[in-house]
Amino acid sequence: MAKQVDIEKDENVRESVRKAYSEIAKTDGSCCGASASSCGSYSPTDLSRGIGYSQEDLSILPDGANMGLSCGNPTALAGLKPGEFVLDLGSGGGFDVFIAAQKVGKDGFVIGTDMTPEMITKARNSIKKFTEKTGLSNVEFRLGEIEHLPIEDETMDVVISNCVINLSPDKPQVWREIARVLKPGGRVCVSDLALLEPLPEKVKESAAALVGCISGAVLVNAYPIVAIDLNDTKLEWARNFGATHTVNASHTTPDSVLMELSHGQGFDAAVDTTGITDVFQTAYNMTSKTGKTVMAGVLHHEKPITIDAFPLHFGRQIIGSHGGDTQPDVDIPRYIRLYQLGKLKLDEQITHRYGLDDINKAIDVVQKGEAGKCLISMS
Ligand SMILES: C[S@@+](CC[C@H](N)C(=O)[O-])C[C@H]1O[C@@H](n2cnc3c(N)ncnc32)[C@H](O)[C@@H]1O
Repeated sequence: MAKQVDIEKDENVRESVRKAYSEIAKTDGSCCGASASSCGSYSPTDLSRGIGYSQEDLSILPDGANMGLSCGNPTALAGLKPGEFVLDLGSGGGFDVFIAAQKVGKDGFVIGTDMTPEMITKARNSIKKFTEKTGLSNVEFRLGEIEHLPIEDETMDVVISNCVINLSPDKPQVWREIARVLKPGGRVCVSDLALLEPLPEKVKESAAALVGCISGAVLVNAYPIVAIDLNDTKLEWARNFGATHTVNASHTTPDSVLMELSHGQGFDAAVDTTGITDVFQTAYNMTSKTGKTVMAGVLHHEKPITIDAFPLHFGRQIIGSHGGDTQPDVDIPRYIRLYQLGKLKLDEQITHRYGLDDINKAIDVVQKGEAGKCLISMS
């Protein structure tokens, strides 16, 4: 019964998406479908140039193929080579299909699939113009849902998709289909919208937000990120640094709060930075059945912990991480980039500054828990 309800719900989602894109196909909408005006006064060409398409790519397009519905440039990221077979999921007016077809050339082939008949008709009507412009006849458009692709097993070198998978009510099924149609060693390149925070319930339920590729988008940032400490000032720093929730363990036993925050499932990752075995045990208890518990703190004293061994079969991990296991050559450039983008708020963490001669004072304030980060000036 529950399965039947899910199928009907999925079908309703697809139907409202299909209806909206059918209207867009008839009227040449833009901006991920929400409405033709939702991207202000930008033309589809402006939008495409803004997300990295070259003028050369755009020049081969038949009129109307670029409807301003994209949110990235999968054909560039995919590094398409002459002779490759490419499948575009949710091909709309054929935008990426035509660009990919130019890249794979006469020995390659590109198939676009879309579930909206009006989009397929629009794209098919552009094929003749594309052939006249380029001399190529290496594209085809097939009507079908990306959850049930009208494509043979193991026939594609590359699957691309541009702002479509977030619209699917059954994303795991889309990925299963991608795996089915790819040749062994094939590759996938998807541009899509993703959320950094959960949407408010009202927006989540809004059909316009779904068609506009917002409410169906997957969450890529971690949420919630819970910091636990005994010191309110440190919790304030943690919040500045990105914690979405904080718990002062001197006021409350964190277990029940943590279980509530993780909806009773436990967390994907729990890190103990204290080196206190009882705290590590709490971290272990608060980790989900398939999650990872990390010991990053320097162990103060050894005491056994109790673990349930059964989940280890299913990927449950317990690891030690000395100093966070930084890979300087990879991580430092990444931290610099994040800092320059204003996403890593390091300045706010520096609470004390000392000259090299006063390094002992710096260690002292850290040990007393009075400092966030101390900056030692070497000059
Ligand atoms: C935002 S538009 C993107 C069109 C095209 N990829 C582009 O960049 O111009 C989304 C397209 O995906 C199609 N679509 C949405 N959900 C789909 C599904 N479950 N199966 C097949 N096509 C779908 C819509 O009909 C629409 O043409």
